[in-house]
Amino acid sequence: MKVVSIIGARPQYIKAAVVSPLLRQYAKEVLIDTGQHYDEKLSKIFYDGLAVPRPDYDLRVGSATHGIQTGKMLMALDPILEKERPDWVVVYGDTNSTLAGALAASKLHIPVAHIEAGLRSFNRAMPEEINRVLTDHLATKLYCPTKQAVNNLAQEGITEGVVLCGDVMDVLWDNTPDNPEILVQLRLQSKPFALATVHRQETTDDPDKLRDVLKALADLPWPVVLPLHPRTRQRIEQFHLQAFIATSQLHIVEPLSYQDMVTLERHAQAVLTDSGGVQREACRAGTPTYILRDETEWTELIESGQAVLCGTHYERIRDAVQHQRLRSRPTSPSSDPVRCIVEDLQRGYDSHA
Ligand code: UD1
Ligand code: UDP
Repeated sequence: MKVVSIIGARPQYIKAAVVSPLLRQYAKEVLIDTGQHYDEKLSKIFYDGLAVPRPDYDLRVGSATHGIQTGKMLMALDPILEKERPDWVVVYGDTNSTLAGALAASKLHIPVAHIEAGLRSFNRAMPEEINRVLTDHLATKLYCPTKQAVNNLAQEGITEGVVLCGDVMDVLWDNTPDNPEILVQLRLQSKPFALATVHRQETTDDPDKLRDVLKALADLPWPVVLPLHPRTRQRIEQFHLQAFIATSQLHIVEPLSYQDMVTLERHAQAVLTDSGGVQREACRAGTPTYILRDETEWTELIESGQAVLCGTHYERIRDAVQHQRLRSRPTSPSSDPVRCIVEDLQRGYDSHA
């Protein structure tokens, strides 16, 4: 079995770090990095710190508008897929790299396997929602992390090739020990603190929302560690919001390594985030989680009382942190979603070979 896997953004390096090693026990894997993320702290740090194999192709597409970025990826992927002719193209999540990979493969009649299929925010203003819906409608195999994801696909008439495997991110998270050094470096040992991340386009690109979120973070009852995504850093400068982060309450740091991030998620009093991955991980740690959005694809976290949606308005965030009592329920280790996916790909290959 030959598989081409396509990655290119931070959460995809992290997912490939658990999937690629097992996949390589079953298949010849060719890894393509689109280069959507290229800053050391968004890409190289994961190649160095996690078991992500070096890419066979590095497309170096870089940043651009959605259309141009996706188009450049398609142009670069087309001849490579034509040459490699794999049995499967594996794509992860909901980024422009995901959609470009799925579209390039399906035009060449190469079956697509989508890891993290079926998630929906039902908000088509999000670029990620467009990417997910289209990728799921192109995929032959749809590996769902939750029951809700399976239901979402059924609502869209997709039932064939759908497999409920669980979230591959859990495997790495469960097997990553703390790095106590990061608490020492940030002078947070035995001190209450909150952790926050903000990078969604709908928040960062709206100056009023971004200002409200930064103000709310600065007014929390704990010091807040804020590893700043480059997109957010750029928007803070562009909208002249630097004064809102120049407060001793906010510890602005560069994006962190996966292990440092996991450590902070486990030790924080609260996590405030608009990230899909971070909300899942914080709940897994049993840390109260405030989602800085109006909807989430991970509805189970709200239903179980581990997380709350608190939007981007100052008062709503403040009130949620003051008044919402969230359930601390660390989740037990999952069964093995990675093995479920790899063995299913092998079965699919065997049945067509
Ligand atoms: C992308 C994904 C988002 C995912 C996130 C993970 C899409 C549409 N969005 O968002 O779903 O949650 O990655 O982190 O695919 N930039 C840098 N250095 C980099 C990369 C980006 O400075 O290495 C800056 C550029 O100014 C760029 C902006 O960040 O224009 C946005 O980058 P982009 O990859 O387009 O989207 P993200 O916001 O990172
Ligand atoms: N992450 C990290 N360092 C950071 C911020 C996030 O390693 O500074 C990890 C986080 O633990 C999670 C993943 O990146 O595993 C989530 O990626 P991101 O928030 O960029 O994207 P999303 O999940 O929202 O698509």
